[in-house]
Amino acid sequence: MARTISNLYTRLTRLPLVAPSVLSANVLAALVDEAGHALANGADSLHLDVMDGHFVPNLSMGPEVCRALRRALPSAFLDVHLMVTDPTMFVGPFKAAGADHVTFHVEAVSPDHARWLCGHIREMGMSAGLAINPPTAVERITRLVDAADLFLVMSVNPGFSGQAFIPGVLEKTRVLARMVDESQRVQMDGGIGLENAEAVREAGCDVMVAATSVFGVEKGKRGEVMKELAGRG
Ligand code: DX5
Ligand code: ZN
Repeated sequence: MARTISNLYTRLTRLPLVAPSVLSANVLAALVDEAGHALANGADSLHLDVMDGHFVPNLSMGPEVCRALRRALPSAFLDVHLMVTDPTMFVGPFKAAGADHVTFHVEAVSPDHARWLCGHIREMGMSAGLAINPPTAVERITRLVDAADLFLVMSVNPGFSGQAFIPGVLEKTRVLARMVDESQRVQMDGGIGLENAEAVREAGCDVMVAATSVFGVEKGKRGEVMKELAGRG
């Protein structure tokens, strides 16, 4: 028989069921532990992938995860990547939750709004990043090169970790790496692993985001993987 709410209990007792909501369970303890371990073993910052189920077909984390990381890891640099349709709505909540940096997508807003939002993020005391998806022309971001502190070249279509790296985007990284000044950074995100890290570095990437290649290996090997990814031989 299928498990349904009506056959979960007998109504004979007329007493209600109890259903603890896991929303308030201490589910963040393991995440905080893994993140702290990564920082202690060579990670330079933490990247928080925020998905709204609209800009991308998946849901991930909200400001509470950021707050838990900030509380447990006061000196960690928290880099928030908003893959959301309405980035403006989330800048304040993430600032309040302890974020140091917020990146949003140029596909989500008009060029004028992107420029304004970068200024707004900076006024709040954070640095600002602009992200670009694989199918989007690099000009969408190069014309805003004076507006942000970081440019994120997506090397997979965002929404899921564990996807294959799209080598065609390396050219965008080369273009941006030539344009940025000393204070700006170029970041790549998606499908980065030991097999393509050298090409990513050679294209001029300053910050390599990696989920599967770091957290997908046993804890004891993560330090070595991060060292190799960064080319710190
Ligand atoms: C993609 C996210 C990425 C992604 C990276 O939607 O922005 O940060 O989770 O995961 P890997 O490294 O597994 O491609
Ligand atoms: Zn990301």
